[in-house]
Amino acid sequence: MNQAIITAVSGYVPEEILSNQDLEKMMETNDEWITSRTGIKERRVMPEGQAVTHIGIQTVKDILAKSNTDPASIDLVICATCTGDYSLPDCANSICYQSGLSKAFGFDVNAACSGFVFSLHTAAQFIKTGAYKKIIVIGAEKLTSFMNYEDRTTSIIFGDGGGGVLLEAAEMEGYGVIDAELAGDGSGKDMLRIDAGGSLNPLTPENIGERRHYVSQDGKKIFKRAVSGMSTSMSAVMKRNGLVNDDLAWVVPHQANLRIISSVANQLDFPMDRVMVNIEKYGNTSAGTIPLCLWEYESQLKKGDNVMLTAFGGGFTWGSLYLKWAY
Ligand code: UT7
Repeated sequence: MNQAIITAVSGYVPEEILSNQDLEKMMETNDEWITSRTGIKERRVMPEGQAVTHIGIQTVKDILAKSNTDPASIDLVICATCTGDYSLPDCANSICYQSGLSKAFGFDVNAACSGFVFSLHTAAQFIKTGAYKKIIVIGAEKLTSFMNYEDRTTSIIFGDGGGGVLLEAAEMEGYGVIDAELAGDGSGKDMLRIDAGGSLNPLTPENIGERRHYVSQDGKKIFKRAVSGMSTSMSAVMKRNGLVNDDLAWVVPHQANLRIISSVANQLDFPMDRVMVNIEKYGNTSAGTIPLCLWEYESQLKKGDNVMLTAFGGGFTWGSLYLKWAY
C-alpha cells in the first residue's frame, strides 16, 4: 500500500489587519479582555471581491511552484471550508479551473473548524488505496463576511485566511498520514451556526434585520466540548499507536482560543513549547488554522518528526490525525 506523505505546505492571509485596538473603536471591548480571554491580538480581513476561492488559488499556485509540480499531475483538490464563495457551486472546482489544474476535479468539505483534519484524512484514503497520486488539501475561510460586529463575544475571535498541503503517494514506509480518529455529535448543532441563508431559513428582510445571517455561538459550552474533544481524540490516537508525549515532536491544534489550546496541553501534560501557536496574529480562521500553523512552522519541522493535528468545530465535529513528517 502507498504512503500518503505531505511534500509541500503553503499559507495565505490577506494584508488588511483588524487589531484589538480597531475593535475597541467598533464595540464595547478592550485589548486587555480580548488578549487575556483568547490570546488574539489581531486578525486579517479579505477585501471585497475576494473570498475562499482566492485563498485556494494562491495556495495551489504557491504549492506548485515550491514543489516544482506539473499542474496536470494533480488528481484532486479538497477544499475544507464553511464560508465558501457561494452556496452553489463549491470552491474546489473553481480553484482547479482557475489554477490551471487541467486534469483535477474537486469537492468541498464542510466540517467547520475540523474541516482540514477531516479532509486530510479523506485525501489520505484516496492515496493509500492507490486511487489517486497527488491531492491538494486546502483549509480556507472568509469568516469576516459572517461576523456581526455588534456581537462582541463572537466577532472578536474570527478572521480570514487559510492554506494547504500537497499530499502525494510515496513508498516511504512509516511516513505520512498514519492514523486518525474523527468524531461528530449533531446535538451541538445550535451552539455554533449561521441560522439564516441556508435552505431551511432562506434570507428574508426579517431574518437579515434580526442579524440571523451571521455566526452565533454559545462560547462557554463550545469551550468545554472543544477541550474534551481534542484531548480525548488525541489520547485515543496516541494509545492506539503506542505513543507517549516524548514521541511527539509537535502538536498542531486548531487555533480557536489560546486558553482552549493550553487547557488541552495541560490535560495531556504536554509542554506548550512543542505546541504550534499563531492565534495572536490571525485569530480563529476555522478550517484555515492548521495549514496556517504548518506553513509558519515549516522550517522547524524535520524529517521523521511525529506530528499530531487536532481540531474541534461546529456540528459538533472533532478529531486528531497522526502523521510522520517526510521532508
Ligand atoms: O472554533 C470553534 C469556535 N468557537 C470557539 O472555540 C469559542 C470557544 N469559546 C471561547 O473562546 C470563549 O467562550 C469566548 C472568548 C467566546 C468568551 O469568553 P468567556 O470567558 O467564555 O466569556 P463570557 O462569554 O462568559 O463573558 C464573560 C464576561 C461577560 O461579562 P459579565 O457578564 O461577566 O459582566 C461578558 O459580557 O465578559 C464579557 N465580554 C466581553 N467583555 C469585553 C464578552 N465579550 C467581551 C468582549 N470584550 N469582547
